[in-house]
Amino acid sequence: MSQLDPHGREQWKTRSGFMLAAMGSAIGLGNIWKFPYITGENGGAAFIIVYLVCIALIGIPIMLAEFSIGRKTQKDAIGSFQELTPGKPWFVTGLFGVVAAFLILSFYGVVAGWALSYTTKAMNGELLSIPAEQMGDHFGGFIGTSLSPILWQLLFMFIVIVIVVKGIKEGIEKWNKILMPTLGVLLLILVIRSVTLPGAGDGISFLFSPDFSALSTEAVLVALGHAFFSLSLGMGTMITYGSYLPKNVNLPTASVGISLADTGFALFAGLAIFPAVFAFGMDPGAGPGLIFITLPAVFELMPFGQFFSVLFFLLISVAALTSAISILEVPVAYFIRKFGWTRQKATWILGTIIFLFGIPSSLSLGAWSGFTIFGLNFFDAVDFLASNILLPLGGLLTALFVGWALKPKQATEMADLSESTIGKLWIFALRFVAPVLIVFVLLFVTKIIQF
Ligand code: PHE
Repeated sequence: MSQLDPHGREQWKTRSGFMLAAMGSAIGLGNIWKFPYITGENGGAAFIIVYLVCIALIGIPIMLAEFSIGRKTQKDAIGSFQELTPGKPWFVTGLFGVVAAFLILSFYGVVAGWALSYTTKAMNGELLSIPAEQMGDHFGGFIGTSLSPILWQLLFMFIVIVIVVKGIKEGIEKWNKILMPTLGVLLLILVIRSVTLPGAGDGISFLFSPDFSALSTEAVLVALGHAFFSLSLGMGTMITYGSYLPKNVNLPTASVGISLADTGFALFAGLAIFPAVFAFGMDPGAGPGLIFITLPAVFELMPFGQFFSVLFFLLISVAALTSAISILEVPVAYFIRKFGWTRQKATWILGTIIFLFGIPSSLSLGAWSGFTIFGLNFFDAVDFLASNILLPLGGLLTALFVGWALKPKQATEMADLSESTIGKLWIFALRFVAPVLIVFVLLFVTKIIQF
């Protein structure tokens, strides 16, 4: 593969490096923290089926659209729209993306900081010495403290910055090549441990035997929103990663492969968690506290629990790291092109601003919890605005852009598809299926916040 593209930007060194980086972006807190708890809250297997349908009908087509835009233009999330439709307002799609990247990374860093802190608590034995019934208070107490979670968030953001500063090949690609296989091995060990526990069967059937009566409209919308978040879509991440691609990578194959890896990882994370939760008679619907409260209590009951708890929190920290890298790269790529900044300058400045913006999110779980926006604390408000409004909106505009603003011939060529049946189905998905479903989500969202 060539080293530099015509604009003098870096390119991925290898195809596998690109695939691992894109998988690293997709596989993150969404897979290990959010997917299991929303599955638990929304009734298990039936929810998973709806989620899989969303991935296939909307996720994969939009991922392919993002890669096509990025690779064609070799530009960042905003520049790519300007290049394809000069003088038209489509670039706002990328602008939403850059804003969403700021917002998401600000609170993502907070949760990743918790995971880092729990890794050390697991290592030094502190975590498993807490009586199970006090695990919730311990977690609440920790995230409600002012200073400590912010220092962990700072450490996490520092690691993210140090990797992104090194650039595409020597930073992002190199680290994903080390971290992603590690992640796979960690998860495999945890799955084997979990499914071989006595009583694991109930957890497995919770995941795989659907009860459609447990499914609500809201669950369908949660599934769609999460499909975006989990595949890193609607934010320009895959446009940006796609912009470092040479022409000789087949985009449809890459999109399907990355989506399968992401979904497989979420299901495996479920298999690492629920069989263990059921085996020890815990509540699968514990919500966001599932992995920080329920699981440590599960590890206490398990032989060699400390060892597995260290592996588990390390797994979450590493998964969060490879995703955070891809989020920071979105504004970094934009600022380098637009303002002529060096990568060093862009990464340090933007990384620092994002860290600072995350501080109120962290504080809103303790000292600042009295401050609310539309009834939500700062953390939840930022998450809600970014994940439930900006990402679906970004995805909607991306689908409309490729489906309607580009000619089908041009679009299918950019995506390595001819105007064959698959090409036509792809355009149809972008023109109609994805927009209609996303509009439903957005309408529903405006209904539940009740301005
Ligand atoms: N996909 C990541 C996860 O599942 C989060 C993410 C969202 C990353 C949007 C990039 C862009 O945790």
